Amino acid sequence: MTILITGGAGFIGSNFILDWAAGSNEKIINLDKMTYAGNPDNLFHLNPEVYELVVGDICDPETVKNILEKHKPRAILNLAAESHVDRSIYAPAEFMTTNVMGTFNLLESSRAYYDTLTGPQKDRFRFLHVSTDEVFGSLEPADPPFSEESPYRPNSPYSASKAAADHLVRAYFKTYNLPVLTTNCSNNYGPRQFPEKFIPLLILNAAYGHSLPIYGDGLQVRDWIYVTDHCTAIRNVLQFGQPGETYNIGGQAEKNNLDVARAICQIIDQERPRDDGQSHAIQITHVTDRPGHDRRYAICGIKIDRKLGFTPRWSFEEGLAMTVDWYLNNPKWVERVRSGTYREWLDLHYGQKAPESQEKKL
Ligand code: NAD
Ligand code: TYD
Repeated sequence: MTILITGGAGFIGSNFILDWAAGSNEKIINLDKMTYAGNPDNLFHLNPEVYELVVGDICDPETVKNILEKHKPRAILNLAAESHVDRSIYAPAEFMTTNVMGTFNLLESSRAYYDTLTGPQKDRFRFLHVSTDEVFGSLEPADPPFSEESPYRPNSPYSASKAAADHLVRAYFKTYNLPVLTTNCSNNYGPRQFPEKFIPLLILNAAYGHSLPIYGDGLQVRDWIYVTDHCTAIRNVLQFGQPGETYNIGGQAEKNNLDVARAICQIIDQERPRDDGQSHAIQITHVTDRPGHDRRYAICGIKIDRKLGFTPRWSFEEGLAMTVDWYLNNPKWVERVRSGTYREWLDLHYGQKAPESQEKKL
């Protein structure tokens, strides 16, 4: 049997594939456009018997049709997306194309493919769509966490595009009986995350002697989940989830951004002390806030716990220590990622925001 994953060369996808290949011989096909966020270094060492990369676009019906006809997957896991909120504020169009139209194209292609299946192949088939808690909008400090029943109130072009995709997935279940599953997960962190996102950006900026940009007052709260826990939850939903249902996935680790920054600094103070003996926390710099910045996300994980037996394995402290360790001990990966396009992004986005200090070597 075979499964098809989209966006598997990105952060969560590559962690998912590595976990999958470690625990199963079932072949995994990865359809990835290899945007700036897709990184061939993440997966190059995998055995071609169990892993195959197809470089292509989820928006292209022919590409998707050919893969489905050739490999006849028993499941499609849709992770391909433009995923960074700040980029969606500068240039939303690509988010609509990939996140909305790409998901629509995958659903259409899956529907045609599903119609050709019979018997156990048909019974087994699943379309699993990986989404975010950001579709639910922002919580006040005293609000209960997001449940599967929370209304959709997306606030950024990114979350609006993911919300649109989620609605399409739901509609394909209701209208066409396509056996879909949707997961809405909180903020992930861990190895191989592109360092435009908060945690890897801060780890690398701290280690290189740059400023640590904190948007606004830094009291925005996220529910952080270690990436391999998210991957475990996706596998559980794929295996045991009820078609047509959605499952929230959280890390049971609500933290505000300033506390996350201080925790990162503490670990790096131990592992790579500054030459002047001060804490890396002196590099923390408050910068202009993000427009439409959601104040708080939090996930109620009761449904996935009770129905599918999933709870996260790693505490925030354990996960953060493993993450910092990974970035400090993989300088080749880091250097290749910090290429021209990444520097262009830093200049564009942070150029106006925070003065940089002297760069150090990792
Ligand atoms: P990422 O940006 O690291 O990776 C996205 C991958 O999708 C890249 O490999 C990229 O090349 C590929 N891709 C982009 N456009 C494509 C297209 N048109 N066709 C084929 N491939 C394309 O993202 P991530 O953080 O790994 O997130 C994966 C999924 O999980 C996304 O759908 C995201 O919305 C969702 N999610 C992410 C988080 C998080 O904290 N990172 C939390 C919840 C949900
Ligand atoms: P991010 O990793 O972009 O995830 P998301 O916006 O999807 O939650 O940001 C996490 C939090 O960190 C969010 O509140 C924005 C904040 N943040 C900063 O304060 N500074 C930064 O440079 C970045 C990238 C994010």
